[in-house]
Amino acid sequence: MESKGDISFTSVMAVTQTCQQNIPQQYVLPPQRPKSTFVDQTFTILPVIDLSMIDHPAHRSQLIDQVHAACNQLGFFQVINHGIPTSLMKDALDSAEQFFDLPSDEKMSFASTDVHNPVRYGTSMNHGTDKVFYWRDFIKHYANPISEWIHLWPSNPPTYKEKMGSYAKAVNVLQKKLTEVVFESLGLNAKYLDDDIKEGSQVMAVNCYPFCPEPDLALGMPPHTDYGTLTILNQSHQGLEIMDRDKNWHSVPYIKGALIVQLGDQLEVISNGRYKSIPHRAILNVQTKRFSIASLHSMQLDKKVGPAPELVDEQHPAAYKEGSFTEFLDYISIKSLTEGKYIDMLKIP
Ligand code: OGA
Ligand code: NI
Repeated sequence: MESKGDISFTSVMAVTQTCQQNIPQQYVLPPQRPKSTFVDQTFTILPVIDLSMIDHPAHRSQLIDQVHAACNQLGFFQVINHGIPTSLMKDALDSAEQFFDLPSDEKMSFASTDVHNPVRYGTSMNHGTDKVFYWRDFIKHYANPISEWIHLWPSNPPTYKEKMGSYAKAVNVLQKKLTEVVFESLGLNAKYLDDDIKEGSQVMAVNCYPFCPEPDLALGMPPHTDYGTLTILNQSHQGLEIMDRDKNWHSVPYIKGALIVQLGDQLEVISNGRYKSIPHRAILNVQTKRFSIASLHSMQLDKKVGPAPELVDEQHPAAYKEGSFTEFLDYISIKSLTEGKYIDMLKIP
């Protein structure tokens, strides 16, 4: 077979059909692989914030305090009573499962190694640059404004566009409200960069982590931070871990109906370092296929984003240069995630 070199790849879904006991060598992380420093679950209290009062001015200051504490300590929290029906969340995850169950040829029609592509099916992080492969297949697609992108999304399963589309729209509404609360919790005006957020980029990263016969040797995703402002994650099972400021990993408990909110690099920059983006990774398990949908939000692709002027003064000089999503994509198209982080290039020493 004449392969197109960098385009063709073997999905993890295909690998699991032939591998019974041992995973192929390219998925095995180096022996110094980080061990889960499992902090006893009973002592790990990760913040869960009830959003039922988000639209009630009288309760807003209490919500802002909770968001401030979570962002200040970790850059992570889960939300409940966020207004997105559990059925919508589940339908989107079911659509993801059905997509990854399609025959390889059909999925491959979306394959691309160009990280600038608005729709892209792939495996690992970037199989063109990864030294070790991660146990994950994905399809990513742009979603805002939805009318501009949805025709490029998969037509199979037949309900994919409708179900993933309804979820994408709902999560974008939630994202806008949450970003306003996060800005307020920094002492900024809730409407700071309002138009840029409305017109901002939304990338849906739809992830599939097949069951793995040797889950301790591999990872679904390496430790990383997300680029944008906020990421909202919808998951079918437990499997996400976050790293606290003391570098301990915590397994994020699965809470039915909850959504996970993570601060990204762009928010760290806007906050001038008051808040930090949260390092996270995906672990694997032997029994279940896990699906997740990360809705990655940021300002428009070419929008240069720097620290908010209100957060820069003599005591807090600007700690970051301006950067954009496009520049981030240029950076990761040549560097593998483990070779360095784009946000470190923006830090002013
Ligand atoms: C991501 C991500 C984690 C997960 O898509 O950026 O970190 O649990 N996903 O799937
Ligand atoms: Ni991530």
